[in-house]
Amino acid sequence: MKQIQVNPTDQKLIVTEVEIPTPAKDEVLIKVFACGVNRMDLLQRQGHYPIPPTDSTILGVEVSGEVIRVGSETNSGLIGKPVCTLVNGGGYAEFVVAKARMLMPIPEGWTVEEAAAYPEAALTIQNTVHQITLKQNQNPTILVHGGTSGIGVFAVQQLKGLGYKVITTVGSETKKKTAYALGCDLVINYNTEDFELLIKELAYKVDVVLDMVAGSYTQKNINVLNEFGHLIIIAFQGGRKSEVDIAKLLSKKITIKAVTLRSLETVEKVKLVNDAIRLNNNLFKMNKIKPVIGSTFSLQEAERAHEALAKHSHVGKIILKPY
Ligand SMILES: NC(=O)c1ccc[n+]([C@@H]2O[C@H](COP(=O)([O-])OP(=O)(O)OC[C@H]3O[C@@H](n4cnc5c(N)ncnc54)[C@H](OP(=O)(O)O)[C@@H]3O)[C@@H](O)[C@H]2O)c1
Repeated sequence: MKQIQVNPTDQKLIVTEVEIPTPAKDEVLIKVFACGVNRMDLLQRQGHYPIPPTDSTILGVEVSGEVIRVGSETNSGLIGKPVCTLVNGGGYAEFVVAKARMLMPIPEGWTVEEAAAYPEAALTIQNTVHQITLKQNQNPTILVHGGTSGIGVFAVQQLKGLGYKVITTVGSETKKKTAYALGCDLVINYNTEDFELLIKELAYKVDVVLDMVAGSYTQKNINVLNEFGHLIIIAFQGGRKSEVDIAKLLSKKITIKAVTLRSLETVEKVKLVNDAIRLNNNLFKMNKIKPVIGSTFSLQEAERAHEALAKHSHVGKIILKPY
């Protein structure tokens, strides 16, 4: 089968021919129809992402496709089923193995591209926003940085669907229009506006911040949070170090949580899968969630897909298709 590997000498993405993997007893073999490209893949390729020791070193953590084989202790009724799922690497290929308990059905009417854009975003939001207990549960307000990113689009759609007030930041006026069209209540262009000033000026009271920037944003995030607010950090695109005023944390009784989905144990991921299926099913029926596909590339064009992601010009997910 065809698989994309990182050339160790120049870090270029190259197409290789390898054996089709064999599913372990609790796994299935999926014929990959589409694979989501994530910013983490860019970091992993450069050697800056510590992948769990049990993961495949091949890029690609989310796919949609069809189950074509099952492991010895896995229900053979899964063969032929269209599925989407998180995988422990290996998605940039024609075939990949996945844990059977991690499989999710493809929502009705979705394309294979949309289905591949769903698992990483849905399970990241399940692992962050839905793991905290809010002091005020009625229509909370959340600030989601990067509202037009792969993760951000899902967060905006799902949380609006659940009744949250959603504020977001984006890097251009075009993306601002897109974020408003997604349903955001307030969109801030981080290149021309100061999110802290604007949120304070408009008197928004923020209960949760979902942050993928860190660096200079950490103190500003704390400053816009309400008493008992939650700051959830999932990445540090703005820098790995922040100086914060601890007195502000104490006086506002703020909780800071930093999480990564990839490093969770399978049992924890399976719980997220089941919780996400329960939470999102109604939202699918009401058409509140529909992944946005920025662009699609063939598997052989993986290098171009990474260039597109690196440019920050996309909205939603970039997808690779082996066939
Ligand atoms: N910890 C976890 O479990 C976890 C899971 C999934 C993803 N992540 C991380 O979450 C981030 C998003 O992932 P993705 O795959 O959705 O990536 P992506 O589509 O490439 O999105 C990156 C986003 O970051 C935004 N951004 C960059 N600098 C910013 C700034 N200074 N202020 C506000 N927004 C800024 C970009 O905004 P513009 O494009 O508008 O400039 C873009 O929306 C990545 O850093 C990824 O590694 C973490």
